[in-house]
This record gives sequence, structure tokens and C-alpha cells, in this order.
Amino acid sequence: MNRIVGCVSLATIAACSAPPQERAHDRLSPDEIVSGSVFLTAETRALQADDFANPGFLWVDRGEALFSEAPQTGPACVSCHADGLAGVAATYPAYDSDTDTVLNIEGRINQCRAKHQGASSLDYESDELLSLTAYIANQSRGAPVSVDTSGSARAVYEEGARYFRTRRGQFNLSCQQCHTENWGKRLRGDTLSQGHGNGFPAYRLEWQSMGSLHRRLRDCDMGVRAEPLPYGDPLYIAVELYLAARADGLEVESPAVRR
Ligand code: HEC
Ligand code: HEC
Repeated sequence: MNRIVGCVSLATIAACSAPPQERAHDRLSPDEIVSGSVFLTAETRALQADDFANPGFLWVDRGEALFSEAPQTGPACVSCHADGLAGVAATYPAYDSDTDTVLNIEGRINQCRAKHQGASSLDYESDELLSLTAYIANQSRGAPVSVDTSGSARAVYEEGARYFRTRRGQFNLSCQQCHTENWGKRLRGDTLSQGHGNGFPAYRLEWQSMGSLHRRLRDCDMGVRAEPLPYGDPLYIAVELYLAARADGLEVESPAVRR
């Protein structure tokens, strides 16, 4: 029997095709929280699952090397973090009392460079920052996402939630309309996922590269013809915190492979 597959009819960006067979996500209940990998083809899922074939591991390996390399101005990361950082990325973004801000892993790395290494900030989306972030995120692979949104982080969480629900761009669409109300449906060449950040940094075939969560968010904002925020923008960090709270309990998958 042919299944009737839902399509997103989002004005001019609508696109719809009905895959012939039942897909992995067809039997999910509406309130089930699942990773974006569930919505990919079997080939892409297999690429992610194979640590030797998964191109994201090139960045993880480079990150491991950078972690033990001392900059001229101070000690190497490893000299203070000899036991590694297992499970840490699953708890980020997190409030930092030193700066009275919420930091994501990228921000925390740059904070350590400034405070503990006397070194300059690494540029967002530079190979070095992506590599260190991937190396640290990978040490949380399999750990459940669990962020603290209480106390000083609360207002930032609320700000992220607001961004998620606000319609924007020429298409006048919110994150929520695509990723909460229409996941599982087809849009352009993709099946809409629930929009979780647990796979990032991730290797995207379209990018032919590793990319941060903020790069993905910029693509989503540009997809609705809205002005994207700059990399590392506090508002994107707020969205990142909201996404992590929304994905509570989902396992970290970085480095994920995505279409
Ligand atoms: C017009 C629909 C649309 C809107 C609006 C949209 N996205 Fe997306 N988003 C997509 C598509 C398509 C993808 C790629 C396939 C997928 O994972 O859903 C994607 C991917 C993602 C991913 C990566 C998921 C993964 O597992 O790889 C995240 C995170 C995400 N979006 C968050 C957001 C946020 C936050 C917003 C609002 C700022 C937003 N999106 C707005 C369509 C949308
Ligand atoms: C001189 C010691 C020192 C060096 C070098 C150092 N760190 Fe740190 N790091 C710390 C301390 C101490 C903390 C706890 C927060 C603080 O006081 O800044 C920390 C916290 C962190 C955290 C967050 C841990 C958590 O549980 O929240 C991460 C991630 C991290 N460092 C990564 C790095 C990376 C990557 C480098 C190298 C670029 C680095 N650190 C270099 C001392 C160091």
C-alpha cells in the first residue's frame, strides 16, 4: 500500500516528493525526541557510524594534536586538562561567572586561551577552532545532552526560545514552524528534522567540510531569506542553549555527518 507522505506547503519554497517506502522516522510518536540522523539516508547514516570513513574524524584528530601543542605564550591545553574533557560538551552552553555570560564550547576554548594561555582568540569557523571543538565534543559522544537553564542562564534561555518561535525573513517562517510543527515532512531535497544541535560540529556533504552549529543556523536563517547573525553572536548562543534544553537527554553525536 502506498503511504501518503506529508509535504510542507510553505509558500514558494514548498517542495514535495513521496518516497516509495516507509522511512525510519515514519513510526515515531509526535512527542518523541530524535536525532537528525534518523531523517537521513541509510548511506549517510552509515558514513557517520564508521569512524574510519566519517570525514569529521579528520578534525577530531587535528584537534587532539592541537590540544597538546603549547602556544609560545603559555602551556598546552593538555597540561591543565590531562584527564581530558569527557562529558563536558554535553553540558554546554553553560553560564560562566568570570564573564557573566553563557559560553558555548567555542567561547570556552577562547576563554581558556585568553585566561590560561595568554593567547589570542581563534576565529570562529577557523580550522583550529573547529578541530578543538570537534575533539572536545567527540569526548561526549553518547553522553546525554543536559544543560543548566536555571539562575543566571534563565534569561538567556528565554531569549533563545523567543528567537526560535519568532517568524522572520521574506518567507516569514519561524524555526518552530519547520522543526517542531513539520518535522518528518519533505522540504526541498531534505526531510525536515527536529532541528537538534547534538551532532555539531558536523561534517556536511554540501559544505564539503566540518562546520559549527552557528554555520547551520546561518544557513537556516538564510533559507528563509532573513539576515543571518554573525558567528558567535550572543543571540545564536542563546538559541544554542535553548536547542540543548529542548534536546534534553538526546545523545551527543559529534562529529555527525549531514546532507
Ligand atoms: C524553512 C524551514 C526551516 C526553518 C524556518 C529553519 N530551518 Fe533549520 N533546517 C531546515 C532544513 C531543511 C534543515 C536540514 C535538514 C534537517 O536536519 O532538518 C535544517 C537543519 C537544522 C539543524 C541541524 C539538524 C541536524 O541534526 O543536522 C538545526 C540545528 C536547525 N536546522 C535549527 C534551526 C533553527 C534554530 C532555526 C531558526 C533560527 C531553523 N532551523 C529554521 C529547515 C528550516
Ligand atoms: C593553565 C591551565 C589551563 C590551560 C592551559 C587551559 N585550560 Fe581549559 N580550563 C582551565 C581551568 C582552571 C578551567 C575552569 C574554568 C576556569 O577557571 O577558567 C578550564 C575550563 C575548560 C573547559 C570547560 C570545562 C568544564 O567543565 O566546564 C574547557 C572545554 C577547556 N577548559 C578547554 C581548554 C582548551 C581547549 C585549552 C587549550 C586551547 C585549555 N582549556 C587550556 C585551565 C586551563
